[in-house]
Amino acid sequence: MSVEEKFQAFVDAENKIEAKDWMPDGYRKTLIRQIAQHAHSEIVGMLPEGNWISRAPSLRRKAILLAKVQDEAGHGLYLYSAAETLGIERDTLIEELHSGKAKYSSIFNYPTLSWADIGAIGWLVDGAAIVNQVALQRTSYGPYSRAMIRICKEESFHQRQGYEIMISLSKGTPAQKQMAQDALNRWWWPSLMMFGPSDRDSAHSSQNMIWKIKRQSNDELRQRFVDMSVPQTEYLGLTLPDPDLKWNEERGHYDFGEIDWTEFNEVVKGNGPCNKQRIETRVNAYENGAWVREAAVAYANKKANKNTAAA
Ligand code: 3HC
Repeated sequence: MSVEEKFQAFVDAENKIEAKDWMPDGYRKTLIRQIAQHAHSEIVGMLPEGNWISRAPSLRRKAILLAKVQDEAGHGLYLYSAAETLGIERDTLIEELHSGKAKYSSIFNYPTLSWADIGAIGWLVDGAAIVNQVALQRTSYGPYSRAMIRICKEESFHQRQGYEIMISLSKGTPAQKQMAQDALNRWWWPSLMMFGPSDRDSAHSSQNMIWKIKRQSNDELRQRFVDMSVPQTEYLGLTLPDPDLKWNEERGHYDFGEIDWTEFNEVVKGNGPCNKQRIETRVNAYENGAWVREAAVAYANKKANKNTAAA
């Protein structure tokens, strides 16, 4: 049996690959690509919501949003650490994000125009992320799978708090309900785009399914998200912005309209409403935070020198 065949048989038997194990170069490369983009998405994903921390309508809402945004930072750190186990330097990943070379989820390039957007993001964006990340808990790469298990525990709080905001607004005054409907109209289709291109157009799915990195296809997870979102929308008394949405008894799923793939490709290419602003904010934060990194390194070096001298 070749080393590749042994690797595939090990993965097919539902074993986890660990950092010290032999792996095909392509497996390592696609994992660095995906985990890095996942980590970037968590960090950039802090920005749209961070924009509303100082404008939350109550102290309770402010505390909840603060906790959620801090969670996202932690998710990013778990994932950068998982990527580093594959032999990539974190500085390289950060540089690729800042230079525009690396991707992050298209969803974070849309503006948060009202407080209802914070509800829609928690409900839909974190809801979509949960569908995707629950599947990724079974990914074949050990460090990524363990990061997912940890992250999924926190995501359900993220989704619940968002849906609670949408309940308060949709059961509130007509103006509040309209604000919730407006946010749903703007966030629904970009949330479906989070699952990636259709299976027909996905560049990585087929190989990544063989390697059990991806356990379910983009379209399968998207369909699961649509099916769970329809009753949640009905409970809110809101309407999904899709005239083609219809229950299909035969399929046992909801049929839904065609995604605007031109919009998807434009946003992924960097031409979304907030792409430029998001990267500028990230670069500024990184540069303004340099002193913290320098101080941490200096302290670590001082401690290491002291230990060497004492030894
Ligand atoms: N935004 C930006 N790029 C996207 C994208 C999106 N929504 N969907 C797909 N792409 C890119 C892919 O990265 C790939 O480009 P690349 O070759 O340059 O990397 C290309 O489009 C083709 O897509 P594929 O389907 O072939 O790519 P994948 O097999 O990697 O599948 C994915 C795409 C389903 C997003 C997969 O990468 C994945 O599961 N990633 C991990 C989960 C993740 O990143 N979620 C994003 C949000 S995280 C989040 O929401 C945090 C929450 O706490 C708020």
